[in-house]
Amino acid sequence: MNHTEIADGPVPMSLLPDSARVGPRGELQIGGLSVDELAAEYGTPLFIYDEQHLRSRCREAREALGEGTAYASKAFLCAAMARLVNEEGLHIDVASEGELFTAIAAGVPGERIVFHGNNKSLSELSAARAHAVGRVVVDSFDELSRLRHLHEIDGLVAQIQLRVTPGVEAHTHEYISTGQNDSKFGFGLESGAAEEAVRNCASNPGVELMGIHQHIGSQVFRVDSFARALEVVAAFSEPLGLPELSVGGGLGVAYLESESAPSITEWGEMLSEACNQLGINARVSAEPGRSIAAQAAITVYSIGTIKEIPGIRTYMAVDGGFGDNPRPMLYGSGYTAFAPTRITEPRNSIARIVGKHCESSDVIVQQAHLPESLQVGDLVATPVTGAYGYSMASTYNRMPRPAVIFASDGEARPVIRRETIEDLTILDLG
Ligand code: LLP
Repeated sequence: MNHTEIADGPVPMSLLPDSARVGPRGELQIGGLSVDELAAEYGTPLFIYDEQHLRSRCREAREALGEGTAYASKAFLCAAMARLVNEEGLHIDVASEGELFTAIAAGVPGERIVFHGNNKSLSELSAARAHAVGRVVVDSFDELSRLRHLHEIDGLVAQIQLRVTPGVEAHTHEYISTGQNDSKFGFGLESGAAEEAVRNCASNPGVELMGIHQHIGSQVFRVDSFARALEVVAAFSEPLGLPELSVGGGLGVAYLESESAPSITEWGEMLSEACNQLGINARVSAEPGRSIAAQAAITVYSIGTIKEIPGIRTYMAVDGGFGDNPRPMLYGSGYTAFAPTRITEPRNSIARIVGKHCESSDVIVQQAHLPESLQVGDLVATPVTGAYGYSMASTYNRMPRPAVIFASDGEARPVIRRETIEDLTILDLG
C-alpha cells in the first residue's frame, strides 16, 4: 500500500488527542502537559494517552450505541484502562484468559464482561464461567460441546451469543476482514452451520442462547458494509425472537490527513436507522475498540541516527520500531509524524522513519514530512497510536516494551511501566 503524504503544513490537530494544544514554546501539550517534558521525565519511546479523550469516546459510545455496548479490550488494555472503561459505563470484551484476568483483577464485575475467541480452551471457558461472565460469544461446535461437558460437571449454564459470519465484504485489509464465508470465525449463515448451531443450543443444557453476534472486520470506513451485514444477520436472527443482537466492532479511524471516518455517533445513528427500517426488535449493541482508543494516544521517540544516502533518501532511526508499532509492517498501514517541540512549523523535509530492529521491514513512516534540520537527540512522534500499538507490542531483538502514561488536567500517571532488561530475562531457565 502506498500512503505517501502530500501535505507539508503542520500536523493537523484533527489527528491529535482532544486535549492537544500548542504550548508557549511552540511545543505540543497533551492533558495540559508538555510532551517534551513528559519524554524527559519518563523516557522514550513513550505512549502518551489523553485520559479525557478516552473517557469522552467511552461516553459517546455508551450514548450512541446503548446499554450493553462493550469496549474491545484487544485495542489497548491494562488495569487502568479496564477501570476507566468500567467507570464510564461500558462493558468490556475480552478474547483470552489474559484479557479476562486483567479485567477481573481491575475490578470489572463478571457480568459486564463479554468473552470472545475462536478457540476457547476448556480452561478458558471454566475461568469465564467461574467469574460468571455476562456473555460467552460462542464460535464453534467444539465450544458448544465443551460448554455441555462443563455443565455436566458443575451444572452451570452459560448465557451465550452465537457468532455468525454474514458473508459480507467489509472492504478493509484482508488480514482484518472477518465477515466473509471463508473465515476461521463464527458459524456460516450460507453453509447452514448457524442454523445447526441454534438447534444445538436448544438441546444443550450448558447454554442459554441470548442472541446473535457478528463482526465483519476492523478499520471499516464504509457504513454501507455495516448496514448490509445487519440486514443479512437480522433476516436470520429476528425470526428466532432472541433478545440480543451484537454488531461487533470495526469502525475505522483516520490515521492520515487524507482520510476521514464516521464518528461513533454517526455510526450509532446509522445503526439505529437501519434497525428501524428493518424492524429489528432485539436490543442491538456493539463492541468498538479502535474508535475509542486510537486517536487518544501518540508515541514519542528520540532520534538516534540520521543517515543521508545521496540521491536516494534520508533514514531517520528512532529508539523504537515495529516492536511498539507492527501495523505498518503487518498491514502496510500509513502513519504521519511530527516534531513535538515544533508543532506549528511547516514540515518541508522528508525522511523515512525507521526503528532499531534488525530488519529492513522495520519502517514506521515510509515518507515522513518533518520540520527542517531535526537533529540526533530531537524528539519525533506519531499520532493515532492508541489502538493495536502497545497491545501488539513485542520484544523482538530483546528490546523492552515502552512505558505508557495517562495525562489529564495537568497531571500524568504511569499506567504501564517501561519493561526492563531484567524483565526480558525473567523467564530464562538455567
Ligand atoms: N469485536 C470483535 C469480535 C473483534 O474481533 C474485534 C477486533 C472488535 C470487536 C474490535 O474491532 P475495532 O472496533 O477495534 O475495529 N490488529 C488489527 C485489528 C484487529 C481487530 C481484531 N478484532 C489492526 O491493528 O488493525
